[in-house]
Amino acid sequence: MAGNTRISDLAQHVGETVTVGGWVKDRTDRGKLQFIQLRDGSGVIQVVAYGPDLPPELFEQAGKLTQESSVEITGVVKENPKALKSIPAGYELSLQGMKVYQIAEDYPITPKEHGVEFLMDNRHLWLRSSRQWAIMRIRATIIHELRNWLDNAGYLLVDTPIITPAAGENTTSLFEIDYHGEQAYLAQTGQLYNEANMMAFGQVYTFGPTFRAEKSKTRRHLMEFWMLEPEVAFMDLDGLIDLEERLISHVIRAVLDKHPQELAILERDISRLEKAASAPYARISYDDAIALLQKLHDAETDPEKKDLLKISWGEDFGAPHETAIADSFDKPVFVTRYPTAIKAFYMQPTEGRPETCESTDLLAPEGYGEVTGGSVRIWDADLIEEKVQTMGLGREAYAWYLDLRRFGSVPHAGFGLGLERTVAWICGLQHVRETIPYARMLNRKYP
Ligand code: 4AD
Ligand code: MG
Repeated sequence: MAGNTRISDLAQHVGETVTVGGWVKDRTDRGKLQFIQLRDGSGVIQVVAYGPDLPPELFEQAGKLTQESSVEITGVVKENPKALKSIPAGYELSLQGMKVYQIAEDYPITPKEHGVEFLMDNRHLWLRSSRQWAIMRIRATIIHELRNWLDNAGYLLVDTPIITPAAGENTTSLFEIDYHGEQAYLAQTGQLYNEANMMAFGQVYTFGPTFRAEKSKTRRHLMEFWMLEPEVAFMDLDGLIDLEERLISHVIRAVLDKHPQELAILERDISRLEKAASAPYARISYDDAIALLQKLHDAETDPEKKDLLKISWGEDFGAPHETAIADSFDKPVFVTRYPTAIKAFYMQPTEGRPETCESTDLLAPEGYGEVTGGSVRIWDADLIEEKVQTMGLGREAYAWYLDLRRFGSVPHAGFGLGLERTVAWICGLQHVRETIPYARMLNRKYP
């Protein structure tokens, strides 16, 4: 209760008697000794109950604790280099008293291996595991560091709506909702409103959930994901890339500095992350990326891999292409100036070469693919009007957006960072489903 000590603070209480409230992660019976792994959300502490030193009822009670039973344990904090299951390692609690709140029966997630679908069905419980603990703590730090860096750099946080009458990206992945008898959509991006906010505040960002009714069942796609989107007035493509790499390298440095313990739990190879912790990153144009892929294609001897690398100018990259490009660099790589035809309607065509646009995707190393997508925005009133027509949702839904090009339009740029892909990359996870507390996927909306 009030006055309990958090496990993360126990190192400051060596030799003292403290009370910790938490859940039993595991218990090992060694006859006269009971070893209880107790977690409280801030860490794990090995509690040692030594029979001969304790009243028999207390020792007996300790021996009855099951996985996920809830307790308050009072004991003396000791240093013990052999307490390796503790987080932080090296500390233990020698049991003196205990209050049991509930003995949990048949907790479904046992220390044995479980299939991932079973674990996802029990996501509300799976979050208690050390691995998920590590991921969620790193996720929280990534959010904190992204926001903090932008706040300190003079970007104003301005929220954007989730319910919107217009499509921000395309009309193929819209979640439709009935808005009091009228059609509306869940936001695919905060960008369009971000552009209005940028005109009001110069440099802004929005951070919130975004929604895509993707038919994709890949390790990179969620239906609901969080996006961080900065938007800046008077900015070109080079300025945008510069902003992205300073922000992202800062975040990676911060995670490396703050979370060695969590990265160790995840068995993350940090040598590649170390490289991404400093700017500048690599840059390659779409044209050169196509040439590079064609070269890799020609050199590939495995027919299956060769087929996956096939591509010609004008086509969008698939996951194998992005991985092959990223593998050619030892840092994250910005691919710039994609074909206008495969990118969003608002992207500014390149001067003198309108078949490409002032866009960039940041490809993360190790197969994590596109973590950010951004561009310079069309600021010419007539051109944006023409592009909006191609969306087929009617001018009315975009009338306010078109106003932005009538009253003091300026060249401006912005990008969106997919939080879950960034978490997957930094944590070294196979799939984005573990990067968000409750994943929404093609076949999953439970729990
Ligand atoms: O490239 P996207 O579609 O860009 C935009 O939405 C822009 N309006 C952003 C902007 O310029 N303000 O999405 C941005 C990022 C992608 O790079 C990717 O990391 C992530 O969002 N993303 C997804 N993450 C998980 N699941 C999905 N279905 C995602 N779709 C995009
Ligand atoms: Mg994109």
